[in-house]
Amino acid sequence: MIIYGGSEGTVLATKVAKFLDAKLRKIEITKFPDGEKYIRYHDEVENEDVVVIHPMGLKPDELFIEYLLICSALKDGKAKSITTFVPYFAYARQDNRFNPGEPGSFHLVSKIIDDLGIDIIYTIDLHLQRVNDLSELIKKTPTKNLSAVPDIAKWIKDSAGLKNPLVIGPDEESEQWAKVAAETMGVDYEIMFKTRYSATEVSITTKEGKPLPVDGRDVVIIDDIISSGGTIIEAVKLIQEAGAGKIVVGCTHPVLRGKTPFDSALANIYDSGVSIVVGTDTVPSQVSYVSAVSYTHLRAHETDSYLVCRLLLE
Ligand code: R5P
Repeated sequence: MIIYGGSEGTVLATKVAKFLDAKLRKIEITKFPDGEKYIRYHDEVENEDVVVIHPMGLKPDELFIEYLLICSALKDGKAKSITTFVPYFAYARQDNRFNPGEPGSFHLVSKIIDDLGIDIIYTIDLHLQRVNDLSELIKKTPTKNLSAVPDIAKWIKDSAGLKNPLVIGPDEESEQWAKVAAETMGVDYEIMFKTRYSATEVSITTKEGKPLPVDGRDVVIIDDIISSGGTIIEAVKLIQEAGAGKIVVGCTHPVLRGKTPFDSALANIYDSGVSIVVGTDTVPSQVSYVSAVSYTHLRAHETDSYLVCRLLLE
């Protein structure tokens, strides 16, 4: 098995290769003077099983093109199989036309991916709000969505020192993650309701406008992505008003971009009163305390997010 990491996937690829005792090879990735991407591998891939670890969190446009070029070149090289592990998938949040004139970007992305002839795509906590399964969009290529939420919840339970915590999902869609986190921690959960006005502006309410049952309790907010931080900050306001103690935030993908490049999402979240923010290394960040592919934890607890290593071993 040959393992490659895309531009943002070298650390994850190294972890996976080390655990599997597999060959980690480097892809030459540069740019032409006009800014176009150039990729080239230097190995014989014919009849080899090839794995590409390729998160697309921080430069989605560029990394999506890079992914297409890598997979296409491997196909041309007659790789026996191409497995791609895309922990953070670019454009997944645009899985619909929200306004007239928009392209429905993830539908287009899915069609392009289906033409590549990849054998399987693994994702982690993929943001799909309007379809039940990625197979409704990427129709020909097999896919499997794993979750890092049990690992995040376990980290919070073991490390955050919380008293009588309540897990809260900041919007309806987050119930799937809040439920799993609450089960892992052995506590109950509530969800809130979000209206989105723009990429960075949201408002949040509670069920029937009633205060959350958090008076004197610590709180764990769980979401898949923190992007601008707007969702978390709005949720924190209501949680504090209801008398909560310590507030900890866990997310799978700590994109943490802020509303502008000069406005730190993480600083704003801490400033709002949150004690700890924890995310995974699907998007490298200052809060990536939990690894989605940590070989050091593999033997200790085998949760869903480690499936990728086990599956690759088979
Ligand atoms: C979608 O609504 C997601 O689940 C997250 O809540 C969202 O991506 C967070 O974005 P932001 O941090 O910009 O509010």
